[in-house]
Amino acid sequence: MAITRKELIKKYIEFFKTKQHKEIPNASLIPSNDPTVLFTTAGMQPLVPYLSGQPHPLGKRLVNVQRCIRTGDIDEVGDTTHHTFFEMMGNWSLGDYWKEDAIKYTFEFHTKILKIPLEKYAVSVFAGDNDAKKDEESENTWQKLGITQERIAFLPKKDNWWGPAGQVGPCGPDTEMFYWSDKSKKAPKKFNSEDKGWIEIGNNVLMQYFKGKEGNYNIAKQRNIDFGGGVERTLAALNGFEDNYLTEIWHPLIKGIEKISHKKYDQHKKEMRIIADHIKASVFIIADGIFPSNIGQGYVLRRLIRRAIRY
Ligand code: ALA
Repeated sequence: MAITRKELIKKYIEFFKTKQHKEIPNASLIPSNDPTVLFTTAGMQPLVPYLSGQPHPLGKRLVNVQRCIRTGDIDEVGDTTHHTFFEMMGNWSLGDYWKEDAIKYTFEFHTKILKIPLEKYAVSVFAGDNDAKKDEESENTWQKLGITQERIAFLPKKDNWWGPAGQVGPCGPDTEMFYWSDKSKKAPKKFNSEDKGWIEIGNNVLMQYFKGKEGNYNIAKQRNIDFGGGVERTLAALNGFEDNYLTEIWHPLIKGIEKISHKKYDQHKKEMRIIADHIKASVFIIADGIFPSNIGQGYVLRRLIRRAIRY
């Protein structure tokens, strides 16, 4: 499906509005309620008070597209799918619908609205450990929707657990959706999340724990759903690109870098991706009121600019 960034965002917001979600604004990259993090790293971050039980003025079902900075992924920038700045489609249930509906909504959005074919679709669910049991409910829901057992992977905490965004807060096991993007071969029947042909395009976090200061996971007072899906990756997948930088989101920047450097992207992919990524992240950090400095967000900004220059 050929689709633009604007169309994708519109389809996403409109779909969740038909499921009674209210659209909330895109928050600043500089968090106002969590001193343990420098940047907004996910759409759920500005919502932590509401994910922790405070009633949200717009109700229990929310949707938006949130700008995010993730410096934790900086060493992976230069590949086809990681960015320090990206946009995340997000929908939330604040103590309202639970796993089964969350999975059904995501599946309907991916397969009916975005028309992703089942043969290119796979999912992962939490394998279980001492903190939480194997997620058979999600597994059963995916099966009912037509996902074969071979396309469901059970993975440990390092892959299928999300949060908290800061050091303490709401978190839980998650179930992730993957798209087969390698055009050189058919999607294998059996899903292996280590195979680079599979790109993660969505994550339903099943927030039922609260991580405390001692690192313990306590059952949360409120069960929430926190969905996140990268706009850049989804757009690349839908348009048949194996490289996010070939989408309309990044390509004008790459073209600009080619023009200024008199070099070709094909011969300098890693360097040009890093430069494009860091320029974009810097511009958005500056737009949210930060200047380069020696501390905090300003220091990260300075490092991003320096790193872009170095490359
Ligand atoms: N907060 C979750 C994530 O960032 C959805 O993947």
